[in-house]
Amino acid sequence: MLGKTIVITGATSGIGQVAAEELAAQSARLVLVARDKSRAAAALARLEVVRPGIAHGVHYADLSRLSEVRRVAGEIAAAEPRIDLLLNNAGALFGARKVTEDGLEFTFATNHMAYFLLTSGLRERLLQSAPARIVNTASDAHRGARLDFGDLQMSRGYTGFGAYRRSKLCNILFTRELARRLAGTGVTANCFHPGFVATRFGDQSGGWGALAIRLAKIMALSPAEGAKTLVHLAASPEVAGVTGEYFHRSRPVVPSSAARDDEAARRLWAESERLAGLLPV
Ligand SMILES: NC(=O)c1ccc[n+]([C@@H]2O[C@H](COP(=O)([O-])OP(=O)(O)OC[C@H]3O[C@@H](n4cnc5c(N)ncnc54)[C@H](OP(=O)(O)O)[C@@H]3O)[C@@H](O)[C@H]2O)c1
Repeated sequence: MLGKTIVITGATSGIGQVAAEELAAQSARLVLVARDKSRAAAALARLEVVRPGIAHGVHYADLSRLSEVRRVAGEIAAAEPRIDLLLNNAGALFGARKVTEDGLEFTFATNHMAYFLLTSGLRERLLQSAPARIVNTASDAHRGARLDFGDLQMSRGYTGFGAYRRSKLCNILFTRELARRLAGTGVTANCFHPGFVATRFGDQSGGWGALAIRLAKIMALSPAEGAKTLVHLAASPEVAGVTGEYFHRSRPVVPSSAARDDEAARRLWAESERLAGLLPV
């Protein structure tokens, strides 16, 4: 990975943090997108310990806000002449329904729209840097979920886990449509399920759900185990040229039928463009 520049979200904790450290150990240069200055400083300090002397960097953004995602993408594109990898990994679960300043439900905004808009903002850099890779952290939690295009913001029947499952279905549909659009460019797009991993995930979600997640984590994988597929998709020569796939345990697996619905993937793309203000009104 020497000479490779990797933009990664959610590397101040959990799966992303371990993956960033593994990739730094392989001599990659990491550009973090983080929201919290002290957590980012701690993450950068750990990267420096793993492999001293690489000029890792950080840009700040709250990824639940479209304006911040757009701004940070612009800053990174201006600062980085090449981007070899984009790892969209930051995610969260919200026990109670909340709406962002953009009028989007928080889970949808953070877990899907941030992936969509950051990728869109870094697209040109990735294309110029081809062969390049995009990896999106999804989840097997998508199984059983369906998108309701009449109510993508889940204003009816909200549950934290229900919104989370839909957002992870969005990650897979987004990856498929992205791969289709990038075909032949040398930029690949894949996503993966890390397994159930004992991270800070769900701790802030509130209520009984947070308690249930804490208890379940007794049985969960370590962050190091959970990061393995992400590191594989980022670094392994085995997956060069592989695109549009959903991985688990470093192998392609078949996602749910809803996640293989190419018409839904196209529709989600169009709707995301509209919500992000990327289409002329
Ligand atoms: N843990 C699991 O069992 C599991 C299973 C399947 C999929 N996943 C997925 O794995 C990914 C990583 O989660 P994790 O388990 O490593 O959880 P985690 O320990 O809670 O880490 C989440 C990361 O995302 C960042 N983040 C969250 N909201 C953000 C926002 N609005 N703006 C900027 N950064 C934000 C967090 O930043 P802070 O440090 O500032 O909080 C943190 O770095 C998520 O996409 C999650 O859906 C996890």
